[in-house]
Amino acid sequence: MKVLVIHGPNLNLLGKRETGIYGVKSLDEINKDILNLASELGISVRTLQLNSEGDIIDVIQKGDYDVLIINPAAYTHTSIAIRDAIAAVDKPAVEVHLSNIHKREEFRKKSFISEVAVGQVSGFGPESYLFALRAAKSILSK
Ligand code: DQA
Repeated sequence: MKVLVIHGPNLNLLGKRETGIYGVKSLDEINKDILNLASELGISVRTLQLNSEGDIIDVIQKGDYDVLIINPAAYTHTSIAIRDAIAAVDKPAVEVHLSNIHKREEFRKKSFISEVAVGQVSGFGPESYLFALRAAKSILSK
């Protein structure tokens, strides 16, 4: 059971970036929480942070995972290319957002990724990733 977690652009700045929206936890701290829950659930998890669209697509295309958890960050709202890569690989994907993208600016309400994801977890801060991991576990056990 291999889960790959991709954190998209600017998420390396978590803890310093717009803390009123994204909170004060750093990406390292969030990854530690993800890995702790993963070992509790008996899932093998790899986490990656990538700022470039092409790098994200390359990793998705390799398909070295059973379930993808992805926070595409700003690419959520722009990237048909990431959407197409997820569709091409045809493995389950769970879309994650720290903030509730439906409660923010109009342009954030559109996600190109939701159309190819099993589901979306949005608005629970860093815990969104933990809910997504539980969703991945449930997908894997079906
Ligand atoms: C985000 C929401 C996106 O709209 C934004 O561009 C991000 C982070 C989130 O996790 O809430 O960078 O994906």
